Amino acid sequence: MAIKHFLQFSDLTLDEFEHVIERTRVIKSKFKNYEPYHPLADRTLVMVFEKNSTRTRLSFEAGMHQLGGAAIYLNTRDSQLGRGEPVEDAAQVMSRMCDIIMIRTFGQDIIERFAANSRVPVINGLTNEHHPCQVLADVFTYIEQRGTIKGKTVAWIGDANNMLYSWLQAAQVFDFHVNVSTPKGYEIDPTLVAADNTHYTLHALPSDACVGAHLVTTDVWTSMGFEEENAARLKAFDGWIVDAAKMQRAQPDALFMHCLPAHRGEEVAAEVIDGPQSVVWDEAENRLHVQKALLEYLV
Ligand code: CP
Repeated sequence: MAIKHFLQFSDLTLDEFEHVIERTRVIKSKFKNYEPYHPLADRTLVMVFEKNSTRTRLSFEAGMHQLGGAAIYLNTRDSQLGRGEPVEDAAQVMSRMCDIIMIRTFGQDIIERFAANSRVPVINGLTNEHHPCQVLADVFTYIEQRGTIKGKTVAWIGDANNMLYSWLQAAQVFDFHVNVSTPKGYEIDPTLVAADNTHYTLHALPSDACVGAHLVTTDVWTSMGFEEENAARLKAFDGWIVDAAKMQRAQPDALFMHCLPAHRGEEVAAEVIDGPQSVVWDEAENRLHVQKALLEYLV
């Protein structure tokens, strides 16, 4: 059987996602009821981080432990990857010792080269272009809260980043629509969107993108740790904060999501992220549950 990787959202079919979502419900219920479930006993996940993380590391490591397996953490500081070992060689070696691999790295080309040389499934834990595990958790969270995401409208308020590109792929798979509003200079790169993707509309004004939305979502304007770029970005993003006025243009029962970490007062007002429409803590927790289902499926 061919190895199944999850390098971008479009790597799985709707049938496969429906299976993973159903398994997520079962696995989450077992977790909540303290019911041991160890389908990955004696299996090992290796996690390679070339960028920092809180949620991704914690959810994969805790998840693998809860499934009965082990997780090994590697980063570029204390592995040979940071000293120039070719990713092709690293992939060959890791995939002879471990059952599944998760990588957080820079370019999509790196993870694709890694996967091409791996004997076991590779999961994208974030690249500059895609963040499929986060959007899987977000889609699951919406379905959990509202029943279905099919036919719904998601408002994306912010720059065109890895989250947006994964949302656009998810819209094609699950048949929903994304209203996109990006500041000038931070627009979509058309080479990162499928030419046949008709599931999104561009809006010059973020308040217009929110009209009628069932879900409003955004992301940090400046990645944590890169605040020296902040001044220019704060100027470009002026007006793109998700505040109560923008949420009022959405559906009355619209949800707010943010993949975290967040800067209150920049991309989102405290009244929204800490308000009644926000589901950010469920969203963060669901990283754990969807990834356990994903690990079970791919292994
Ligand atoms: N949302 C997310 O991927 O968080 P981390 O960067 O903490 O993993």
